[in-house]
Amino acid sequence: MERIPVSGPWITQKEVDYVSDAVAHAWYGNANVYHERFERAFSRYIGVRFAASLPSCTSAIHLSLMALGIGPGDEVIVPDITWIASAAPISYVGASPVFADIDPKTWCLSAESLAEYITSKTKAIILVDLYGNMPDMGALRAATRQRGIAVIEDAAEAIGSEFEQKKAGCFGDTGVFSFHGSKTLTTGEGGMLVTDREDLYRRALFLRDHGRPPGDRMFFNTEVAYKYKMSSMQAALGLAQLERIEELISRKRQIFAWYQSELADIEGVKLNDEASGTKNTYWMITAIVDPKYGIDKAGIMQRMSAKNIDCRPFFHPLSSIPAYKDLKQAETARRRNKVSYGISPYGINLPSGLNLTMEKVKYVCDSFKSILPS
Ligand SMILES: Cc1ncc(COP(=O)(O)O)c(C=O)c1O
Repeated sequence: MERIPVSGPWITQKEVDYVSDAVAHAWYGNANVYHERFERAFSRYIGVRFAASLPSCTSAIHLSLMALGIGPGDEVIVPDITWIASAAPISYVGASPVFADIDPKTWCLSAESLAEYITSKTKAIILVDLYGNMPDMGALRAATRQRGIAVIEDAAEAIGSEFEQKKAGCFGDTGVFSFHGSKTLTTGEGGMLVTDREDLYRRALFLRDHGRPPGDRMFFNTEVAYKYKMSSMQAALGLAQLERIEELISRKRQIFAWYQSELADIEGVKLNDEASGTKNTYWMITAIVDPKYGIDKAGIMQRMSAKNIDCRPFFHPLSSIPAYKDLKQAETARRRNKVSYGISPYGINLPSGLNLTMEKVKYVCDSFKSILPS
């Protein structure tokens, strides 16, 4: 069996045609045609008023914080379990990250833990739709709304996921997406900021183009800002992928179903959850192995690698990684976030690329079963 990568896209002739057209024609007066089509189609798909295309999800979080006016002296709460990109922009704007615990079922931010970390300095939370799942949005919104705390929904991994029939990305003041090559919808690298708030949208457009309003022809910058723009070729690729979004999501759910039929009955192995009222798009098929097996995520990855299968570790708690070692808040989180610290050492992401076949999933599952100590 050839080496099985952990992730990868599904590209068809449609994507090749759109990108070829952008390379040939999206210049001069047509330079923004694909951006406009992609942004319009994206906002309609998510069910929000505005969408701004960007070079990454990281930049979308950065601009969200800037547009919300978050800065030095402010605290922003993020789940301890996520990719560092969810939290790094908090430092870019000079605010302090605070790491709250996750829910043991959804693996997303726990509303109970969030409540324990809120202080008078909390100005925003960045909730994360981890691995395509959705947190209890009702409880999280209740906790923040009462206190006037802004919400950024990091839906980088969750395009097409739903909570009570509303799409991931529409639950905060802003929602942010990643189109990195590993994501369900890809533009190679890329991101999107969505919002219903016109003030935040206008501010994001201004900040993404070196502090000048859209349409400015005098190159007359009124603030020092950022250069955060997507290229036409990326926008064309994104549009083609978005026009195929239902089949991309169905394939992800099919891949999960294959894994589930092979692994659901193995005692002490837990796969991604899908609570009633939510739709999980399973960006990464994830398995948590009971500690009783006596093997951790590094051990599993090593043994799977020997069978030509690439896996990824379940995210390490942010409060445990060297990047945050000197942060006082990380010390508190290390003591308090029992769920994050209980699950993370025993979790792995199994191959989840869109080119997987049932045969390959069967090989991965057979290999996985064979490496678990009996
Ligand atoms: C939860 C989460 N947030 C943010 C990001 C950052 O996305 P990007 O790489 O497009 O900046 C990622 C990307 O992997 C992610 O998984």
